[in-house]
Amino acid sequence: MLVAMNQSSDSQQLRACLEHTAPFSASAPATLERLVERSSLRSIAAGEPAFVEGDPSLWVFVVLRGSLAATARAEDGRDVSLRTLSVGDLGGLTALDATATRSASLRAIEDATLAIVEKRAVREALESDSSFATALVAYLGEHIRSKTRQIATAVARVGRDPREQIAFFDAKPYERAAFERRLSDGLRARWIEAKLDASSAAMADGYPVVCAFVNDTLDATVIERIAAGGTCMIALRCAGYNNVDLAAAERHGIDVARVPAYSPHAVAEHAVALLLTLTRKTHRAYARVREGNFSLHGLVGFDLHGRTAGVIGLGKIGRCAAELLRGFGMRVLASDPTPDDAFDARVGVERCSVDALLERSDVVTLHAPLTPDTWHLLDARRFALMKRGAVLINTSRGGLVDTRALIDALKSQHLGAAGLDVYEEESEYFFRDRSDKVITDDVLARLMTFNNVLVTSHQAFLTEDALDNIAETTVANVREWLDGRRGEALTHRVARAPSGG
Ligand code: NAI
Repeated sequence: MLVAMNQSSDSQQLRACLEHTAPFSASAPATLERLVERSSLRSIAAGEPAFVEGDPSLWVFVVLRGSLAATARAEDGRDVSLRTLSVGDLGGLTALDATATRSASLRAIEDATLAIVEKRAVREALESDSSFATALVAYLGEHIRSKTRQIATAVARVGRDPREQIAFFDAKPYERAAFERRLSDGLRARWIEAKLDASSAAMADGYPVVCAFVNDTLDATVIERIAAGGTCMIALRCAGYNNVDLAAAERHGIDVARVPAYSPHAVAEHAVALLLTLTRKTHRAYARVREGNFSLHGLVGFDLHGRTAGVIGLGKIGRCAAELLRGFGMRVLASDPTPDDAFDARVGVERCSVDALLERSDVVTLHAPLTPDTWHLLDARRFALMKRGAVLINTSRGGLVDTRALIDALKSQHLGAAGLDVYEEESEYFFRDRSDKVITDDVLARLMTFNNVLVTSHQAFLTEDALDNIAETTVANVREWLDGRRGEALTHRVARAPSGG
C-alpha cells in the first residue's frame, strides 16, 4: 500500500532517512529536497512481497522498519536465499537504467516499512549533482567488492560441507571440546592448528567467519587477505582486541565481535594464585621437596593481611581481584579513569593516581587493557616509584610493562617479585610446546632465570567454566551474524573508537 506523502511527518521521516543514508547523504540540499518530494513510505505486512523478481525496477528503497528476505530463482527453479535486509539497508541502486527489471524478490519477514524513491528522480540527481554522483560511484564500488567476496566464498565452498562456516585458527584440543558441544545444529568449524598470520591467511578462503584468539595476527595485510578470500566476520574468542586492525576491518566491511566477559573470576583468581605462590615461595618449595631438600632457608614470605594492594584497571577483572584482595584483609587502592563510588564504598576501595598507587602498594596487579595510552604504563620511571620489595602481577597484556625496565628493577632488587601471565613478545612462545628448541628471545630467557619471577603462558583464562562461556558466546555471536544481524546490530560488536584509537 502506498501512503500518500501529504503529511509533513512523512516528509520529515523521509528527509531524515535520506540524510543519513549513503549515497543520498552526500547530495546537495536542493537535490535532497527533490528526492524527498519524489519519495514515499510503503508498509509491507509480515509474509507479503515488497518486490517480485522480473518486475520493472522503478524504485530505490531504504528499509525504515522491520526486516525483509531477498531471494532469487536459480536455474533449476529453486529459490535461493540471498540476504536479509534490516533497518538502514538499501536496495535497487544497481539497476538505474529505465528498462531494468528486479533481479530478486523481496518479502517482509516481519512488518516492515520502506522509504521508496523514484528511480527517475535518482537518475536526474545523478546528472545534476556531482557530489551525489561521486558518492554513488563509491557505493557501487563497495557493492561490487562485497559481491566479489560472496562469489569467492561460494566458489571456495563448492564440494565442502555447507555447514562448515568457521575457519577456527590456533585450535587447541582443550577448547575444541567446548566448541564442539555448542556448534552442532547445522554449524561446523574447520579446525586449523596454525596461528592466523600472513602465511596462513589463505586457509580461511571460502569461510565467511574466521575465529581467532589473542595471539593471532589480524593486521591490515591479513585482513585484506581474508577479505579477498570471502571472510566477512571475525569472531574473536577472547575479550582483548588489541591484535585487530579495526580500521582495516571497517574498510573491508568485516564485522568483528568478541567475548566481552567469560569469567573475570578465572583471571582474577589466577592473579591471586601467582601472588600467593610468590609471597609464600611455594614454587621453590615444590621443587626443593621433590629433591629431598626439606630446608626452609630462603623461603621466608610475608603476610598479605594488613598490607596494601594496588589494582590498576578496575573493570570486570580488576573488581574481582579487588574483592579477593580485600578478602585477605588487604587495604586496596585502585586507579581507573571511570569512577564508581558505589563499588568503592561497598568493597572498601580507595582511588588514587597510578603514581600514588605505585608509591603506596606492596602488591601491584594490572588489569587495564592494552591501548596506545597504556603501552608501557610501567616504565623505568614508574618502577622507581614502587616500594622496595613490592610484587608485580600482570595478567592483562604484556605491552603494559616495559620488560627491560622490569628486568633492571629485578636485578637491582628494587622489585621483590613478578608474576607474569603475559609477555609483550609472547606470541612466538606462549600456547606452544617449545621444549625441544632453544629460546632465542634473550629478554624472556633472562626473565626466567630469576627465582622470584613466575611466568605462566597466558593461562589465566583457562578454566572449564571460562572455556564453556567463551564457546557459548562465540557461537552465539557467529549465529547472530549468520542470521543476518550485521554491523551495529551485533550484540558483541567491536567498533573502532571515533578517534581511530
Ligand atoms: P574491562 O574493560 O572490564 O576493564 C578494563 C578497565 O581498565 C576499565 O575499567 C577501564 O576504565 C580501565 N582502564 C583503561 N585505561 C586505564 C588506565 N590507563 N589506567 C587505569 N585503568 C584503565 O576489561 P576486563 O574484562 O577487566 O579485562 C582487562 C584486561 O584483561 C583485558 O583488556 C585483557 O587484556 C586482559 N585479559 C587477560 C586474560 C588472560 O588470560 N590473561 C583473559 C581476559 C582478559
